[in-house]
Amino acid sequence: MALPHERRLRAAQSGDVIVALERRRQFCAAFLVLTVAMAPRPALRASGQETPSAADACQSVTGSVDQIAATLSAVPRYGSTYVLVLSAGVGADVTSLDAPVLKAGEIAVHAGAAGAAIVQAKGLKARPYPLDGENLTKPIADLLAGRANAAVLWAPVAALGIDRLDPAGTLRMVNVGGPEPPPTSFSGPSAGASDPCAVNLAGLIEGNGVVPAELLVPADIRRFIGRPPPVRDPEEARQGAALYANQCARCHGPHALAQTGALAPVDLLRSVRRFQYAGFEYIVLNGRPKNGMPPLRGTLSEPQIAAIYQYVRARSRGDLGPDQ
Ligand code: HEC
Repeated sequence: MALPHERRLRAAQSGDVIVALERRRQFCAAFLVLTVAMAPRPALRASGQETPSAADACQSVTGSVDQIAATLSAVPRYGSTYVLVLSAGVGADVTSLDAPVLKAGEIAVHAGAAGAAIVQAKGLKARPYPLDGENLTKPIADLLAGRANAAVLWAPVAALGIDRLDPAGTLRMVNVGGPEPPPTSFSGPSAGASDPCAVNLAGLIEGNGVVPAELLVPADIRRFIGRPPPVRDPEEARQGAALYANQCARCHGPHALAQTGALAPVDLLRSVRRFQYAGFEYIVLNGRPKNGMPPLRGTLSEPQIAAIYQYVRARSRGDLGPDQ
């Protein structure tokens, strides 16, 4: 899949660079424009009240907190990300918890979630809300009603609240801190990566310029050195083929070879023979942002990178042909 118009974003805190897809942004913009036309909706409705439409995927996510948790756990790439949500009244120059103006008031958080600890660590006053169905999107409602100026929330929860209560997009979200675990009641089994509401929420978070928290912390090469390459496994190599097609082929071409016209001027079938596994994993996690290779921390898990390595290695050895 060749996607045009790559766009680079500078992550606020680390100077790290990710490549975001312009097309995704256009989609987000269209999505937001669509939601502007709709009336604000109550935070948690009983199920079966409305027929969901494709443009409004999160409308079908109703019912118990457990069901909502399953969807929110499936939000791609943002599972370890917390955001600072700011009301329209807060100046655009405020982009972190260090802003003096935030010292005056209380910051809305969910009790027991990592956001509460982030706020306390900055010496700021937290206003805790219980993490239950009734209070899940209450911090967002309070920001909109002027009862609070700022909140530090798990990104998927913040996005759900904004999707439901702020169709005009008056609130903004910015990264806060590095990767933190999701609230405990939300780390349960995920509803699957293609959950349409989860994908929409990831688009909404990305549309605010928030990057997956893993990208704010470079992966340390020392963690990988000496790690043995994955044991040759044809089944894993085939799984890796699908991941390669999704995550790498648009730059490295369908056959992992240097190709004229392809975005990446390297032949991965050769690279994989030159690199230790540690080096391969390190490059995939950190990318080479200056040269156009994006960091894929937060996008790919370490087992997924191992599967991609298996695939490229199997291709390189001739165990798998180009179309297998
Ligand atoms: C947005 C485009 C893009 C994507 C997506 C991408 N790469 Fe790259 N990659 C590049 C570019 C450009 C280079 C060359 C960078 C350089 O020479 O420093 C590169 C270099 C590499 C290298 C170093 C090769 C060498 O011999 O120095 C490896 C390994 C690599 N990519 C693996 C991957 C894998 C695996 C994936 C998918 C999980 C992937 N890349 C996804 C653009 C991309």
